[in-house]
Amino acid sequence: MVIAIDGPAGAGKSTVAKLLAQKLGISYLDTGAMYRALTVKAIRSKVDLENGKALAKLATESQIQLRPTATGLNIFLDGEDVSEEIRTVEVTNKTFYIARAPEVREIMVNLQRAIGHKQSIVAEGRDIGTVVFPNATKKFYLDADPAERARRRMKEMQEKGKIVDEQELLREINERDQKDFTRKVGPLKKADDAIVIDSSGLNVEQSVAKIMEFLK
Ligand code: DC
Repeated sequence: MVIAIDGPAGAGKSTVAKLLAQKLGISYLDTGAMYRALTVKAIRSKVDLENGKALAKLATESQIQLRPTATGLNIFLDGEDVSEEIRTVEVTNKTFYIARAPEVREIMVNLQRAIGHKQSIVAEGRDIGTVVFPNATKKFYLDADPAERARRRMKEMQEKGKIVDEQELLREINERDQKDFTRKVGPLKKADDAIVIDSSGLNVEQSVAKIMEFLK
């Protein structure tokens, strides 16, 4: 069984996919974390981020592992836990270069398919229902209003004690959407057979409950 969840940044895909996988008793695959982990390696190796071939070479030489924990996933790069480093602002911004390289995407897609062939998964990302698993058991497109996504992000940051400007967050979200929608390979796109779940005004439990209704 493969449950595909695609959607824009900040729509709540990770938390929803994690909880859904838990409820279904299957694995959770965070594909964004894989692109992020390779970004960490590219930054450290000082590889030219515009050079798709060099990035692909780096990808073939790297070992990216997602290890389940009680609360989610830990991400390992060549045996080192990079779960925190992949969430920094620098990595978040530079992952754009890694994710737009067709040579890299081909490698990542193959890795993701191999994971899905071994076990039942809830996989989340941007191209899961369209490219990675076009024959997924069920596909969802988790969406939310950009303003709501900015508000949620602000709350998250505030809970971590960080002061942020909501307008600035909204600008960043719109910028990320633009990059995700216009990527030549593997852009964010709702699969024709995906069910749209609008999570605006819903909490994680409610979004998962909606998805579960369609899985019955
Ligand atoms: O979901 P996220 O924010 O962790 O994703 C990180 C980056 O990777 C983001 O720039 C979009 C990109 N990405 C992608 O291109 N394809 C995927 N399947 C998942 C993420």
